[in-house]
Amino acid sequence: MEKMLHSAPIQATLPDCFIFPADKRPPATAAAASLPIIDLSRSRDEVRRAILDAGKEIGFFQVVNHGVSKQAMQDMEDVCREFFRLPAAEKAGLYSEDTHKATRIYSSTMFETGGERYWRDCLRLACSFPAGDSAMDWPEKPRRLREVVERFTVQTRGMGMEILRLLCEGLGLRHDYLEGDISGGDVVLHVNHYPPCPDPSTTLGLPPHCDRNLLTLLLPSMVPGLEVAYKGDWIKVQPAPDAFVVNFGCQLEVVTNGLLKSIEHRVVTNLGVARTTVATFIMPTTDCLIGPAGEFLSEENPPCYRTLTFGEFKRIYSVVKLGSSLNLTTNLKNVQKEI
Ligand code: OGA
Ligand code: NI
Repeated sequence: MEKMLHSAPIQATLPDCFIFPADKRPPATAAAASLPIIDLSRSRDEVRRAILDAGKEIGFFQVVNHGVSKQAMQDMEDVCREFFRLPAAEKAGLYSEDTHKATRIYSSTMFETGGERYWRDCLRLACSFPAGDSAMDWPEKPRRLREVVERFTVQTRGMGMEILRLLCEGLGLRHDYLEGDISGGDVVLHVNHYPPCPDPSTTLGLPPHCDRNLLTLLLPSMVPGLEVAYKGDWIKVQPAPDAFVVNFGCQLEVVTNGLLKSIEHRVVTNLGVARTTVATFIMPTTDCLIGPAGEFLSEENPPCYRTLTFGEFKRIYSVVKLGSSLNLTTNLKNVQKEI
């Protein structure tokens, strides 16, 4: 629990273990950009096309009128901030470094870096669908957390499944092609909390990484921090009000044989205010076998990726040194060759 940043005394200088080598630090300037905004209430034809275009062009987009109620979003933001403000003693029992634990709080780690820690605390929660008893070990405080998280997750997953159906239709696949085991694992939530940082110029909130799951839906906070790799550089994301930021996970890249790309992104910190975001990950089941689908293969398009179970993929991908690829989109093909 001493490793949690948000409950430690405020530090005037950044401890050495958080300092990244000079070539991996965030550059002083990154261009700000508004990601494409897709209004999910427009005609199905229009939305389908917009998602595919944005997906192919940049791999990240925002959605509005997405069916998750303002109340559910606001309650989730509030309750997550309240959680991180609870006295440390109330959260100590949830602290764990065991990556197999479904519910835990932890700081830094998860992606390999050159050994540096990064400036993020995280509350991880898993939710099974159809709703099982996964909420049983969720935090008991704040009192309304379980109810708020459950409502938020049901609505957010609903939006994610709709985006997957739209993608399938746009790609000329059966509309339910991405239903079943490939999207049927537990929905995992990362409540990321980035406390104010004494020196944002020498560290990162999250190192460059690609999400390993199928589809990610981020409640981004109005405090900026997320940066996306684009044409060999980084762009800062400025979220639109009430929007979710959506990106494709590695499994969508593999299934479509690289037609859709999982784009590298990272988080920079800031001096002044804490930033809390909620990443909702739609995941395959651990045993689900995923490889390029026949629909994307031909003589000119041989498979570019290996077929692996999701469990194997996660194990292998987490040992690859992602932090080394700053400013370059992680090439999943090379990663898969290395193993
Ligand atoms: C993540 C992530 C971005 C953010 O949790 O995988 O990329 O802005 N989060 O917190
Ligand atoms: Ni991510």
